[in-house]
Amino acid sequence: MPGLRAPSDYKQEPPRHPALVINSKEPFNAEPRRSDLVSSYVTPVEFFYKRNHGPIPVVDDIDKYSVSITGTLGHTKELFMKDIWKLPKYTVTATLQCAGNRRTAMSKTRKVKGVGWDVAAIGNAVWGGAKLADVLELVGITKCSRITPSGGKHVEFVSIDKCKEENGGPYKASIPLIQATNPEADVLLAYEMNGETLNRDHGYPLRVIVPGVIGARSVKWLDSINIIVEECQGFFMQKDYKMFPPSVDWDNINWSTRRPQMDFPVQCAICSLDDVNMVKPGKIPIKGYAVSGGGRGIERVDVSIDGGKTWVEASKSQKAGIPYISDSESSDKWAWVLFEAEADIPQSTQIVAKAVDIAGNVQPENVEVIWNLRGILNTSWHRVHVRIGHSNL
Ligand code: MTE
Repeated sequence: MPGLRAPSDYKQEPPRHPALVINSKEPFNAEPRRSDLVSSYVTPVEFFYKRNHGPIPVVDDIDKYSVSITGTLGHTKELFMKDIWKLPKYTVTATLQCAGNRRTAMSKTRKVKGVGWDVAAIGNAVWGGAKLADVLELVGITKCSRITPSGGKHVEFVSIDKCKEENGGPYKASIPLIQATNPEADVLLAYEMNGETLNRDHGYPLRVIVPGVIGARSVKWLDSINIIVEECQGFFMQKDYKMFPPSVDWDNINWSTRRPQMDFPVQCAICSLDDVNMVKPGKIPIKGYAVSGGGRGIERVDVSIDGGKTWVEASKSQKAGIPYISDSESSDKWAWVLFEAEADIPQSTQIVAKAVDIAGNVQPENVEVIWNLRGILNTSWHRVHVRIGHSNL
C-alpha cells in the first residue's frame, strides 16, 4: 500500500520505555510494572502494554496513505487521512485489555500456549478519531444496520503487518455490522491516543478501537475495511482467541465448535503488591484496577486480607473530583476504575480481590475452573501473599 509499509524484519522498531517488562522481544510484547500501571487513571502512552504479532509497520508518506473500503458493496472507496480528519472527531476513554492478560498465572495450574503476561496487559487511554458508523455512512451504509442490501453482516479490518500465524500475511479481525454502525457502540477509527498522534507501536497512522471487547479485535495499522457476509476467517478469529473448556487439549481441539471471543468478562487485579511481598506489620494500601466488558460498569470491588474468608469493599474512582457511579452518564462506561483499600496486616496472609459488574457478574474463585489451553481470560480472584518481615515496599 502506498505510504505505509510492513518490514519483514525487526530493524526499524520504534524506541520504547526502558521500564517496560519485555515478555517477547521479536515480535515486541511488553507490559508496565504493576505499580506504574495504576499510578494514573489514564495510562501514559509509554506505559501502555504493547502487543504485536510481527514487525511494526513504517509510514513513508502520510499523504499517500489511504484505507480502502470494499467487499459486498460492489465498489471500493479510498479514504485518505484528510477525509477521516474531516469527519466529526470523538474522544472515547476506553480500556484495552489483551485476552492473554494474567496468562502466566493460568500457566502455573497447567501449561498453556502463548506469550506470558502478568496483570498489566491492559491500559486505559483517551482515544481520538472518527466513529466507524460515520465512516461507513460515506459508503452508503446507514446507522444501526444489521445487514446491507447485498447481505453484508460483518465488518472486517485488515492490517498490513506480517504475522507468522497468517503465514506472513496481515493481522485481521471482524465485528458484527450492527456494532460497527451503532454510534452508541463508540467503535472508532482512532488517530490519537491521549491527545497525541497515535505512535507506531499503537497503530499509527490509524487503528480500530472496539470498546468493551478483547484487544485482539482493535486492529492496528489499518489497510482495508471489508463488508463481508460471514465473520472474518483469519487465524486470530478462527484459530486463536477462543475460550475452550478445561477438558479440551491440543489432541482433541475442534476450533469450529467455539465462537471468537468478543466482550471481555469482569476482571480486577491488585497492582500495589507483587505475588509475594515482605511487609512490616501495620497498614498497607491495596490498589488496583477493575473493569468489565460490553460497557458494563463496576458495581463493587471486594478485598479480603484472610484469603477470602471475610471481605471489605474497596473505594473506586475514575476522574478526579467526580464520584464514580457504575451506571451514570458522568462515568466512563468503557473504562476501568481504580480501586483502593487499606488493610492492617497483623500476620502473614493472602490478600484477595474480586470485582462485580453492574450485571452482577463476578470473577470466579479459582483459575482451575476456567483453565483453557490458550490461556485466555484469566479472571479468577486475584491473590497476592504478604509475609511479615523486612519490607520490600
Ligand atoms: N493489530 C495488528 N495489526 N497486529 C497485531 O498484532 N494485536 C492485537 C490488537 N491489534 C495486533 C493488532 C492484540 S492481540 C491486542 S491485545 C491489541 O492490538 C494491543 O494493542 P496495543 O499494542 O496498542 O496495546
